[in-house]
Amino acid sequence: MMKKKVVNIPFGPYIAVLAGSTVNGKPNYATIGAYGVVSQKPVLYISLKNSHCTTAGVVENGFFSVNIPSSENIEKTDYCGTVSGNKVDKSKIFESFYDEVGNAPMIKECPVNYLCKVIQTIPMFDFTMFIGEIVAAYANEDCLENGRPDALKVKPTVLMDSGYFDLKNRVGSIFSTCSGSK
Ligand SMILES: Cc1cc2nc3c(=O)[nH]c(=O)nc-3n(C[C@H](O)[C@H](O)[C@H](O)COP(=O)(O)O)c2cc1C
Repeated sequence: MMKKKVVNIPFGPYIAVLAGSTVNGKPNYATIGAYGVVSQKPVLYISLKNSHCTTAGVVENGFFSVNIPSSENIEKTDYCGTVSGNKVDKSKIFESFYDEVGNAPMIKECPVNYLCKVIQTIPMFDFTMFIGEIVAAYANEDCLENGRPDALKVKPTVLMDSGYFDLKNRVGSIFSTCSGSK
């Protein structure tokens, strides 16, 4: 197979999540692909453009939420990534709920929610990467399998190139190729 050099823009896949923060006392959400896990401790990162409305709320309160929408909510997810809370009130698009351990709104309609306390910030060009310790986690009961969120029930949306994709099949089990101890 011949390799061809291509344009150096990351292709994905990423999953679409809604980052939430409290701005002027109201919930605000921005769709992001720049989200991920950073260690085996319950720590996540999100990367937000400095000019976003959501960013101001994370800086002000020191907390953010990560909400994993089901692909059935793709229109609302896309909308939150298209218009800014700096111009439009997005506080009523979803129903919000809170946990007393930190001031960031979470989304009832999203099957999985993480409330994170900012423990480090890394400036990156005109973005800020917020590293957050998960201080509370929620999941919709009907998306659980043996007490843990099940991917095919949560139905996350995968971002690639300029498209949204859903998950169809489980193709293997993690660590299934390891036999015996290392
Ligand atoms: C699919 C998708 C992925 C996005 N990923 C990011 C991202 O990773 N980081 C970011 O800062 N903005 C990202 N955006 C753009 C913001 O969601 C968008 O500018 C939004 O209007 C910001 O809202 P706010 O100003 O209310 O915070 C993404 C938008 C879409 C549609």
